[in-house]
Amino acid sequence: MDWHEHIALRAALEWQVELGVVDAVGETPVDRYAEPPVKPASANKAAGPAVVPPAAAPVAEVDAVAEAVAAAAAAQDLPDLQARLAAFDHCELKRGARNLVFSDGVAGARVMIIGEAPGRDEDREGRPFVGRAGQLLDRMLAAIDLSRDSSVYITNVLPWRPPQNRDPTAEEIAMMRPFVARHVALAKPDLVLLMGNISCDAGLMKRGITRLRGQWTESYGVPALPMFHPAYLLRNPRAKRDAWADLLSLKHHLEAGS
Ligand code: URA
Repeated sequence: MDWHEHIALRAALEWQVELGVVDAVGETPVDRYAEPPVKPASANKAAGPAVVPPAAAPVAEVDAVAEAVAAAAAAQDLPDLQARLAAFDHCELKRGARNLVFSDGVAGARVMIIGEAPGRDEDREGRPFVGRAGQLLDRMLAAIDLSRDSSVYITNVLPWRPPQNRDPTAEEIAMMRPFVARHVALAKPDLVLLMGNISCDAGLMKRGITRLRGQWTESYGVPALPMFHPAYLLRNPRAKRDAWADLLSLKHHLEAGS
């Protein structure tokens, strides 16, 4: 048998085992009733009572979303929330990430930005929006006199970088949503900016940023403005025009509410 044949046969066998096959069926029928009963290993020992192995304890299924809800609800303030997130072990992304990326900027600022997930630079530094998209975000904010140093608080839906920057799964978003909701409740912004589709998914249970952007709505109990993600703007510079309109809308909203 050559190597390719070996791999193909092995894959076919593994597939069958996955389907639940437990016995190999040969070409000649076998009368199992005529076979001697299989003795437990302990029966081969000289004497003594048969040892019945203890039944394996059933593995309890963990409801990761329920765990996240409980952990987030217990957080008393932002450092406590960060600590509870760091201790949360049900999200596989944590294992592949270098750092927990919790937040940046001014806690308690009127504007809270919710991005998607850390990329390579953010994972390395442990701060959101520090790569190219983050630099564009800073320029966008500066255009309406906002800055993470004085007037904006920033976080992401996911605190850990997904491998190869892949999109987070629905399960990962559902698991992190309670933490984001608690994050907003504890940071108490006047409004949130939902940057991109993942952020809209978590905050509005909707995607379709081209349709959603620029339309004020409510999310996490406060006014919310969906906007194009700066990474999208880097790839599609023509969309900057819409982003500029949304920034002006944000500025008016802040002025009207001050
Ligand atoms: N994109 C995001 O959504 N968040 C970051 O922190 C970086 C890039």
